[in-house]
Amino acid sequence: MKERVVLAYSGGLDTSVCVKWLQEKYDAEVITLTLDLGQQEDFSEIAARSKATGAIKHFQVDAKEEFLTNYVLPSIKTNGMYQGKYPLATALGRPLIATKLVEVAESEGATAVAHGSTGKGNDQVRMDVTVRALDPNLKVIAPVREWNMSRDEELVYAKKHGIKIKPSNSIFSIDQNLWGRSIESGPLEDPNTEPPDSAFEWVTPPHKAPDSAGYIEIGFVEGVPVTIDRSEMNGLELIRHVNQFAGRYGVGIIDHIEDRLVGIKSREVYEAPAALTIIEAHKDLEQLTLTRNELDFKAGVEREWSWLVYSGLWMDPLRFALDSFVRTTQRRVSGTIRVKLYKGGLRVVGRSSKNSLYTSALSTYTKASTFDQSSAVGFIELWGLQSRIAAKIASDATGEKNVEHPKRKQSQALKQKSK
Ligand code: ARG
Repeated sequence: MKERVVLAYSGGLDTSVCVKWLQEKYDAEVITLTLDLGQQEDFSEIAARSKATGAIKHFQVDAKEEFLTNYVLPSIKTNGMYQGKYPLATALGRPLIATKLVEVAESEGATAVAHGSTGKGNDQVRMDVTVRALDPNLKVIAPVREWNMSRDEELVYAKKHGIKIKPSNSIFSIDQNLWGRSIESGPLEDPNTEPPDSAFEWVTPPHKAPDSAGYIEIGFVEGVPVTIDRSEMNGLELIRHVNQFAGRYGVGIIDHIEDRLVGIKSREVYEAPAALTIIEAHKDLEQLTLTRNELDFKAGVEREWSWLVYSGLWMDPLRFALDSFVRTTQRRVSGTIRVKLYKGGLRVVGRSSKNSLYTSALSTYTKASTFDQSSAVGFIELWGLQSRIAAKIASDATGEKNVEHPKRKQSQALKQKSK
């Protein structure tokens, strides 16, 4: 009996060649699986291509809602961002793709799953780790990692086997879903070259964006965006709307040098208008509704969570535990944030919440103030106590008032002593 393999299939060159290669090299029956994560593609064309390449069966799964609910929304609550720059779109999608591969493999009696990741990136780690955590009996095959073909060799292989390739003339390597579009390679491999306008599909180049500013009001309930300009929207629609709106104003382009898990520094370009806008708004709302202690501690949790997600450890128990902490913090994160967008820039210009900790009576400089200024005196007395003691002891010993910046003659004296 032939071995059965379920392959994560995008319909592109790599995964199309994978189908044939798995048949040849492993003498396997190949089942293809394509997930709709909101990347807006022609899925019937992908299905047709799978059939033409000789897959025995093709599954197309609409996983948009699941992606939103279990991956994107937790990331919004956590302000998920790798190295302060990358909103994790691809990284969030991979464990869901791996989960569905396992589901199909189990229901179809397959002994292995396969994916088109190379051996140089993060995606292989995310896929392999998740599959193996979910079903240790499944074998994971990554043909591209094994076969060592260049793109040109892949094209020759495809031609030889009559594999029809999507007539994509893109010079870039693209991965996209609801939460963002990752753009790599081609001219971007030179970190000193500005990305050409042709790299971008979601964001209008800022110099072509409207000449007047745009405003958008995002309403959150417990950390989840639920309204735009005061009207309710379903989550998928809301994110699509913000992607389009912010993108039109030139907002959403990210260009950075990213540290991959395998040690490679890589030039990464992203389009993520909704992610950048929503996270900026969400952070501002937290600033209004959470205490300083909560904010401070949460910043460390956000960093750790983002690292776990980036590095393929979606299944790590620590990620679940951090999620629970974040969920608890979000109970008061409800309110409305007004964002102004203009030629590639965005700024929060207004915020309101029934849970706001901002108290006018305390902060106002008018007569209406209820803040007792005299209590500041005693507070300062104790707050600076240790600094004052340390300064006094140092100056008693050296005769200097500012021991951080001793006068020249004194440092010279010290030098002489040590000779
Ligand atoms: N550097 C990003 C990440 O590791 C994007 C990867 C894009 N993946 C791809 N197969 N093109 O998440």
